[in-house]
Amino acid sequence: MSNAVVKVFIVLLIVLGTFLWVGSTITAMTGGEKKAGGVVEVSPEGGEQIFWGKGRCFTCHSMGDQGSAVRCPNLGQFGEKFALPIGARAAERARERSEETGLHYTVTDYLVESLAKPDAYLVDGFKNEMAIVFAPPISLNLDEIKAAISYLQSQGGEVDLEAINNPSDIASTYYERIEAASAAGGGDPGAGEEMFTDNCSDCHQLNGEGGEVGPDLSAIASKGLKFISESILVPAKKITEGYETFTVVDKEGLKTIGIKTRDTATEVDITTDTGEVITFTRSDIEEITEDEGSSVMPDDLTEALTVKDFQDIQAFLMLQKGEEDEQ
Ligand code: HEC
Ligand code: HEC
Repeated sequence: MSNAVVKVFIVLLIVLGTFLWVGSTITAMTGGEKKAGGVVEVSPEGGEQIFWGKGRCFTCHSMGDQGSAVRCPNLGQFGEKFALPIGARAAERARERSEETGLHYTVTDYLVESLAKPDAYLVDGFKNEMAIVFAPPISLNLDEIKAAISYLQSQGGEVDLEAINNPSDIASTYYERIEAASAAGGGDPGAGEEMFTDNCSDCHQLNGEGGEVGPDLSAIASKGLKFISESILVPAKKITEGYETFTVVDKEGLKTIGIKTRDTATEVDITTDTGEVITFTRSDIEEITEDEGSSVMPDDLTEALTVKDFQDIQAFLMLQKGEEDEQ
């Protein structure tokens, strides 16, 4: 057998072993009736523990006069700006979101969204600085997030466990996003390769094949699962060096957005998300600016993927260790 075949075999064995281990762990967890410490109950009491503990919400938010954080919205009743505690305030927010989106938001939908995608609605006067609480280092799982939501509802509102446990379309889309992020591996690399080819290879190279808009991912496994999952869920969070997004406005006022792939005294090349390279002469450029906080990689890729697809892609990428590079 060639060296490469032996390596593939070993990798397969490791993957198989991991599946068996994950499977038995999950069985042990569910079979154990959640009696183990650290498993939170989906209730306001459970959520209170999360809020003032693992969720680290208290580092940014106070609840009325409980807590000492001042830089983020108070989630209790506090002054004129926060006349209603969050359980009641969420009803107003839900109304606003329904008007903005044309979808029907319930109180639960608003609260799920505020945790799952904080930038969807920014509280007036605050920036998009809310932690992604289902990503590292906080890494709440879905039950912990559901518990936190019931606690928020208990602050001047109605605790609606029914809506939390039987989510609407809006909430279930967000639950999927959260679950995908907290899933640590356990995907099918074979199916992942197909998903990758369909969704990612237009922009990313693997072992010499694929587009070149984004970085080569042939050795991406070395960066770890958390890095990979964040890169897909929130591409703009950490832009790979050399792939910053630029906007060029030309003398006619036309805007082009992409990566600056060449920059000389006389010309600038911008590669757009379709891979098209557009050359500008310096004298044609009115303005060129870097868009910090935005990536050429779309941030809604996961919307087209199921949780399983996402795990599968992650499992596939965790197998990309750059070994073929030696040829
Ligand atoms: C790093 C600071 C930070 C952490 C940690 C944090 N938040 Fe926030 N949160 C913010 C900021 C800033 C806003 C306002 C911007 C926005 O609307 O996204 C906000 C907004 C909110 C809102 C919307 C409030 C309203 O008036 O509509 C809710 C609800 C919320 N956070 C709940 C939580 C919960 C629950 C946790 C813990 C699981 C948490 N936050 C952790 C910073 C944080
Ligand atoms: C439209 C082009 C485009 C598509 C489609 C795309 N990406 Fe990206 N990707 C980029 C760009 C550009 C970057 C670098 C900028 C950044 O860090 O966000 C990047 C960065 C990444 C990184 C971080 C790489 C590193 O070394 O830092 C990973 C991982 C990644 N993409 C995975 C994926 C996966 C998985 C898919 C498919 C589900 C995908 N990308 C689809 C353009 C794309």
